[in-house]
Amino acid sequence: MKLNLLVVAGDGIGPEVTNEAISVMRLVMSHGGHELAVTEKRIGGIAIDTDGTPLPADTLQAALASDAVFLGAVGGIKWNALPPNTRPEAGLLQLRASLGGFANLRPAFASKELAVNSPLKPDIIDGADILFVRELLGGLYFGAPREWNKDTGEAWNTMRYTRDEIVRVARIAFQLAQKRRKKVTSVDKANVLEVSQLWRATVTEVAKEFPNVALEHQLVDSMAMLLMTSPRNYDVVLTENLFGDILSDESAVITGSLGMLPSATIGGKVNLYEPIHGSAPDIAGKNIANPLGAILTGALVLRHSAGLEAEAVAIETAVLKVLEAGFRTADLARGNTSFNVLGTTQMGQKVRETLTSQLALT
Ligand code: IPM
Ligand code: MN
Repeated sequence: MKLNLLVVAGDGIGPEVTNEAISVMRLVMSHGGHELAVTEKRIGGIAIDTDGTPLPADTLQAALASDAVFLGAVGGIKWNALPPNTRPEAGLLQLRASLGGFANLRPAFASKELAVNSPLKPDIIDGADILFVRELLGGLYFGAPREWNKDTGEAWNTMRYTRDEIVRVARIAFQLAQKRRKKVTSVDKANVLEVSQLWRATVTEVAKEFPNVALEHQLVDSMAMLLMTSPRNYDVVLTENLFGDILSDESAVITGSLGMLPSATIGGKVNLYEPIHGSAPDIAGKNIANPLGAILTGALVLRHSAGLEAEAVAIETAVLKVLEAGFRTADLARGNTSFNVLGTTQMGQKVRETLTSQLALT
């Protein structure tokens, strides 16, 4: 098969980690006789600097014409003073809205090898395997009215959801749970917010379509704690946009580093793939960023947009093997000298070497 991939590497460490991910994808695809056709466009701060807007029209056009979009990261200190609607992040939000994907899948997992990377105790996290389904196009991120009124010194945002927006993302969560351990935990703040009461009632209704999947509800504050004390209790975690943003970063602690986690956004016209980490301007250009989240995001591209499940698994296996062999980027090693610490490009190379010997065996 041929996959037309639009790459928007963006700012900070985005380009460094994206390079590694693309060359890993290219390696496994060409091994199977598949073609990866990459187009590159600008997004985020770099696009503000060159085009005066965080999402240039030709980037959006290329995104809509592609089979899938791979985003590195957006944002940086240079653009921090800009108001929300002109910042690098606004380009990403506009891209998300235009592509239409409303279900953002964010896996968080800990195997024995990974458990040593986490500041949490191995006996708490070993075997944890959570899939966050974060609603991506509603809630506070997109709700109107929104404003900072400098005259009155007031500001407001709106957490708004329609029943249909909740139904469609809930169905995806239940469908995914059917293929996993058949449990959905829906997270809300129904003891305070009307929008959460609608969320809870709607998810409860959708659950009736999936009698073989267990549903439980948790309040977001207590869920923040439960994810750290008993992460193994959770299978699919369904939540609205902002709660999902926060809880998925929190759950990166289970994996050991934010640099490990991939994401895929499905349900719209074109799927969008992004590692969940940000642009990390403090370490950009130093060849020390962890490319594994981006590389695992590449595996999700192959799984959800190319139908190449075996190739996706090959990448995931290679990443685990590299970790098993004691290789780490600095964020994962955290000063532990028993690891062999690699830079960004060396880690990418290590994954490719491992894949090459793995593929030679098959
Ligand atoms: C994420 C990021 C984005 C978000 C930002 C960069 C707009 O934090 O993908 O989690 O808040 O969704
Ligand atoms: Mn985030």
